[in-house]
Amino acid sequence: MDERKALIEVKNLKKHFKVGKNAILKAVDGLNFIIREGETLGMVGESGCGKSTAGRTIIRLYDATEGEVLFDGKNIQNFDKKQAKEYTKDAQMIFQDPYASLDPRMTVGDIIGEGLDIHGLAKGKERQEKIYDVLETVGLNKEHASRFPHEFSGGQRQRIGIARSLVINPRFIVCDEPISALDVSIQAQVVNLLIKLQRDFNLTYLFIAHDLSMVKHISDRVAVMYLGAIVELASSGDLYLEPMHPYTKALLSSIPIPDPKLEREKIRIRLEGDVPSPINPKPGCKFQDRCAYAKDICREVTPELKEVAKEHFVACHLMD
Ligand SMILES: Nc1ncnc2c1ncn2[C@@H]1O[C@H](COP(=O)(O)OP(=O)(O)O)[C@@H](O)[C@H]1O
Ligand code: SF4
Ligand SMILES: [Mg+2]
Repeated sequence: MDERKALIEVKNLKKHFKVGKNAILKAVDGLNFIIREGETLGMVGESGCGKSTAGRTIIRLYDATEGEVLFDGKNIQNFDKKQAKEYTKDAQMIFQDPYASLDPRMTVGDIIGEGLDIHGLAKGKERQEKIYDVLETVGLNKEHASRFPHEFSGGQRQRIGIARSLVINPRFIVCDEPISALDVSIQAQVVNLLIKLQRDFNLTYLFIAHDLSMVKHISDRVAVMYLGAIVELASSGDLYLEPMHPYTKALLSSIPIPDPKLEREKIRIRLEGDVPSPINPKPGCKFQDRCAYAKDICREVTPELKEVAKEHFVACHLMD
């Protein structure tokens, strides 16, 4: 059992968007999990299942519709102005497309220095030193400070995005698909950098990806999302060795196994149909239309996330 204290506690978190006149889009619909200090929680699921919305609500870019997020034991919705500003320093986000989030007219040095200015953390020579230091920390160098984002490769831009977050000493970072847009050869480098930074600065990560193979290496535990809810949550090892939810099994069976014999013999579970719309969803299990095991109760009662083995949570009526 991991004894580290929870830095993030998410309780029945919901984020609904009003779309059109009478429709409600339930992007995030009742999340419950913790992230321990120094831990990486992976979050995976197909595009549109609510991962970015969850990340944004947790760092307070969105107000929650219902439920709460505790940071270090304190409800972020009750923060006063000063605490809210402190939280924009403590909780950071890095994005899939670093280019879109880097102002093309600013030098790398000024992009990184902006956070230092906003939070009044350093001026003059000290500011300059901090910018040079953080560039080295992320594998760039101080000559890069006077250049512009377009002069860099995709991997280097992601390093700039990481430097911008890191320079203001965050405690928690939502990594929103930070490697999805990078060449495969570069992905491992960025993941290894994030792992190193976590160790050196005791960072806590929520690491979002649409593909299970990407989160395996970096995550202590993994939450599998489907249509705004978590269907399974377990340690990385348990989830890969003993997936229990039909959706997790389907996701895992689509990842190729390096051994050709095992790959040929592997049982493949095909995911039929598309992810249904999160607008005015029907009652019961959200996976019911794509699940080979769906029974009557699945169409009536939403299965709750329950601990079915030690530290292994599943939301499925097959486990009842
Ligand atoms: N600001 C918004 N207004 C309305 N709907 C939104 C908004 N942001 C996201 N959505 C919808 O919420 C759902 C979840 O989106 P998102 O969190 O971006 O998913 P993911 O990151 O898993 O791809 C999608 O159906 C998306 O269209
Ligand atoms: S609750 Fe029912 S429909 Fe949902 S995953 Fe389990 S068996 Fe399938
Ligand atoms: Mg997203």
